[in-house]
Amino acid sequence: MMRADFLVVGSGIAGLSFALKTANHFPTSKVIIVTKADKKESNTKYAQGGIAVTLDSKNDSFDQHIKDTLKAGGGLCNKKVVKFVIQEGPERLSELIGWGAQFDKEKKDIYHLGKEGGHSTNRIIHHGDSTGLEIEKTLLKQVAKQPNIKILSHHFALDLITHISKKNSKKTSCCGAYVLNMKTNAIEKVVSKITLLATGGVGQVYESTTNPLIATGDGIAMAYRAGAEIKNMEFVQFHPTALYQANVSPSFLISEAVRGFGAHLRTPDGKRFMINYDPREELATRDVVARAIDKEIKKSENHFVYLDCRHISKKEFTKHFPTITKKCNSIGIDISKDMIPVAPAAHYLCGGIATDNKGNSNIDNLYACGECAYTGLHGANRLASNSLLEAVVFADRCYKDANKKIKNSSYYQYTPDWNNEKPISSKEKIIIKKNKKLLQSTMNNFAGIVRSKKNLQKAFKCLQVIDKETKQLYKNGVKSSQLFELRNLIDVACLIVQQSLKRKKNKGVFYNEDLR
Ligand code: FAD
Ligand code: SIN
Repeated sequence: MMRADFLVVGSGIAGLSFALKTANHFPTSKVIIVTKADKKESNTKYAQGGIAVTLDSKNDSFDQHIKDTLKAGGGLCNKKVVKFVIQEGPERLSELIGWGAQFDKEKKDIYHLGKEGGHSTNRIIHHGDSTGLEIEKTLLKQVAKQPNIKILSHHFALDLITHISKKNSKKTSCCGAYVLNMKTNAIEKVVSKITLLATGGVGQVYESTTNPLIATGDGIAMAYRAGAEIKNMEFVQFHPTALYQANVSPSFLISEAVRGFGAHLRTPDGKRFMINYDPREELATRDVVARAIDKEIKKSENHFVYLDCRHISKKEFTKHFPTITKKCNSIGIDISKDMIPVAPAAHYLCGGIATDNKGNSNIDNLYACGECAYTGLHGANRLASNSLLEAVVFADRCYKDANKKIKNSSYYQYTPDWNNEKPISSKEKIIIKKNKKLLQSTMNNFAGIVRSKKNLQKAFKCLQVIDKETKQLYKNGVKSSQLFELRNLIDVACLIVQQSLKRKKNKGVFYNEDLR
């Protein structure tokens, strides 16, 4: 058994910035970060476009950023949350810069600001097209300097340890988590006073996604099983322009900033089409562009449309988008001569574990932050590059609140041990792999960009079959991260489908053709 004052699950921008601030503020406290892969692996690492922050007082204002966020969110954002997240952005950005993160500058002290869909002006701070990697590396470097933070990589949190108060029988509190050490295959108990879930997104629920393999919704599923409120799961954002490569998953992202830089979308026979869908054309919000592409793809029976950058200066393009240029070159696409095949892919979850304005879930001593949380910022559709912003603002709010709470917290004495002890067999591995693939194709086919009641019901039936088979393995006591992940994917997929069936009106990224 391990003990920590603060247990952080996840080592992306949300978990690392919370851990760093907390450990710094309380040098005598013990902070444990558990993360299920290499410590760098996260959605954060792949973020390209940047962070939306209001910096340019001449051409931008908090009010304008607030207005754009509310408009993208389709009337479902929490206005108070939108306001404070945007207002606190510049201070949080200064902290990242203070820790050593570098962002592109136009000239001394003036940052270069990129543009993305739904933004009325240029306001995206970025590090070329690898902003997330720069942030991740910076945070990990700082965390390494903090003697009271212990990072346990290849440690998979599989369930929360909870306790129901006898005095107030309705109130559940969190006392840590069961964690699988993926190297030794032992299940360990991490007992903590405060737990923060920062486990990221759910893209792996879908066959085509920009999200890396770690994005299996574990935190959301764990919190759900422990009784946390989970909201707005039907709002899965599809990025319009993931690179199309048959049978390659996850998909490489072609940043929206490329369209912000002037790239055009074209049908396979070369025609621009966005004007037929929205006066903002290629820079309409993601829901609009992704649905337009989906429609064009279905009309033409192709698997993709094209993104055309041929009219953009190759030198300038390469300077701003070195990673994208390199990737295209590696598969024989010269962006000055060839068009890039693109298709929408699951990218971001706007919903998640419901929190208050300080990151508290409805379970005592359990916080959620980053993509796994539903704070009210994004409503029905996240405005591009508002998620890194949300993560740093809420990590700060969680840190401030948790630091008040820790003074009156103690360890819960009785925490039961985990008792499953059977390693996985190769036959069971095959069943798990087959069911994961089936789940992903089911969600792509029946719960994707355009949904219908009939298809959602079909998806639910199929998920029930997968769930039954998976529960059987679980009952048999199989102990493996693959099985734990599949269990989480099923819970999250069911939440997406069930909450989709309940929604009565199309909003933002949610579109059910029966509700037109
Ligand atoms: P993550 O960065 O995903 O970190 C989650 C962590 O939790 C990982 O370390 C993971 O290993 C760990 N974990 C998960 N489950 C478990 C478990 N069971 N046990 C232990 N550890 C676990 N947003 C923007 O604002 N701007 C952008 O330009 C941008 N570009 C993007 C480009 C791509 C390709 C992608 C995929 C996303 C992009 N996003 C962007 C979204 C943004 O990157 C994410 O929303 C954000 O990084 C999420 O941060 P996080 O800390 O919440 O989660
Ligand atoms: C991108 O660079 O297009 C991704 C931005 C985001 O998801 O916010």
